[in-house]
Amino acid sequence: MVLTKENLRKLMLEKLEKQREELRKKRSLSIKDKLFRLKVFKEAKTILFYLALKPEVQTRTMIEEALKLGKKIAVPACDIKAKEIKPCLLRTLENRHLKEGACGISEPFLIRPIDPAKIDLCIVPGLAFDLSGNRLGRGLGYYDRFLSRLPESAHKIGLAFKFQVLKRLPFCLPHDVRVDKVLFA
Ligand SMILES: Nc1ncnc2c1ncn2[C@@H]1O[C@H](COP(=O)(O)OP(=O)(O)O)[C@@H](O)[C@H]1O
Ligand SMILES: [Mg+2]
Repeated sequence: MVLTKENLRKLMLEKLEKQREELRKKRSLSIKDKLFRLKVFKEAKTILFYLALKPEVQTRTMIEEALKLGKKIAVPACDIKAKEIKPCLLRTLENRHLKEGACGISEPFLIRPIDPAKIDLCIVPGLAFDLSGNRLGRGLGYYDRFLSRLPESAHKIGLAFKFQVLKRLPFCLPHDVRVDKVLFA
């Protein structure tokens, strides 16, 4: 079978769905530890996280602990009409302050956009990555468009389970924005 973006997405979605809950939790915590040990994380004042869907690398504990450390946290709100991600302030993970946005992804109930130029660190989800930081998303290009407009100073880190990291993603195009580092477990 020829490996295409589309069949790799399908394969990764299946693997993500199949992964047992305990493993997903355990690996996500180990990825959190790796993230919190990084100098770029320690020094970051404003961090864009993502609010994970069930099969993805989980970010709740990361966000809770980062809030306790006094970091300013933003998460994407998806604007379907404009086909873009808007980074919005997240002060708490309490359910009553969240709502379901596009594609079943949680977002803040009150949308308070932040200036993307203020983001020091951007935590990026993905279906697959390679060791050079190439990334495969869900196929809508939201993060490619968003990341391409971020200032150079913003560090980009992808989070993944080990099975999502390949030696090389063969079909990346010029519009695909690379991350600076991939953390996986
Ligand atoms: N910087 C960009 N400007 C305009 N369109 C873009 C840009 N980046 C991506 N796209 C659009 O998004 C579509 C999906 O991108 P793709 O890289 O296949 O998805 P994903 O990154 O989600 O896996 C592309 O076909 C392209 O038309
Ligand atoms: Mg892409």
